[in-house]
Amino acid sequence: MLELNGVSRLFGGLQALNNVTMLVPAHRVVGLIGPNGAGKTTLINNISGLDHPTSGIIRFAGQAIHHLPPHRIAALGIARTFQNIRLFGELTALENLLISQHGQGNATVLDSLIVTARYRMEERRLRDTALRLLERFRLAGVAHQHAANLPYGDQRRLEMARALAMQPRLMLLDEPTAGMNPVETEQLGEQIIQLRAEGLTVLVIEHDMSLIHQVCDEVYVLNFGQIIAHGTPEQIKQNPVVIEAYLGREDRVEG
Ligand SMILES: Nc1ncnc2c1ncn2[C@@H]1O[C@H](COP(=O)(O)OP(=O)(O)OP(=O)(O)O)[C@@H](O)[C@H]1O
Ligand SMILES: [Mg+2]
Repeated sequence: MLELNGVSRLFGGLQALNNVTMLVPAHRVVGLIGPNGAGKTTLINNISGLDHPTSGIIRFAGQAIHHLPPHRIAALGIARTFQNIRLFGELTALENLLISQHGQGNATVLDSLIVTARYRMEERRLRDTALRLLERFRLAGVAHQHAANLPYGDQRRLEMARALAMQPRLMLLDEPTAGMNPVETEQLGEQIIQLRAEGLTVLVIEHDMSLIHQVCDEVYVLNFGQIIAHGTPEQIKQNPVVIEAYLGREDRVEG
């Protein structure tokens, strides 16, 4: 489904991604782990078109996408969440979803949806979908609260609902449980498993190893921009190279 071939990204002299080759098969949950600054977010930025490789090829469903702008990649069926949450803080949870369903998150689109009679039918349909998504991510009770005022866990789940509102085939999740307590984290894991059951493909960046074990079919480990290991969560946990680079470090063992 998603295929990276020799992808490198240089920032000046810094090799943020170094010849990354990886495969995300359809209907799988693939984990991406690695120490801070390893290049994980850069990788997702390059897949989603916010950033572009210095060299290498990224293919989605057979089509080269590494030169495309974000809106084209989104239209192909790739949605993402952000490590640094990107919601419209002044809009309600519901409005954030209405906007994303319409594509590019443009406030004037929302205005027109609300004020113009012509769009009332469409608005109703979008609204029903948005309300179902809020329900699904346990946000129905805060539908009319400003996103900026929501607790951290709610904001993360709203980000995920927003991505799902775009009806993607591939979801890229950048630390979806950051700031969540263990109960919220496990519930989010169940949401990810549910996405796979519905036929989606997921690439998830995560530091919480218990979540990796809970949801991932396979895991890639990135260190200084390079893939240093690939395998099942169990294989990764026992890989001496990974333990040395990442898991063995006291500050990173979280499960
Ligand atoms: N736009 C940029 N310009 C210059 N350097 C960048 C840019 N974006 C990222 N970097 C650098 O690239 C490296 C990889 O950063 P990246 O954010 O991808 O790491 P990460 O694995 O997501 O880390 P974390 O776990 O802290 O989120 C870092 O050294 C970072 O400072
Ligand atoms: Mg990151």
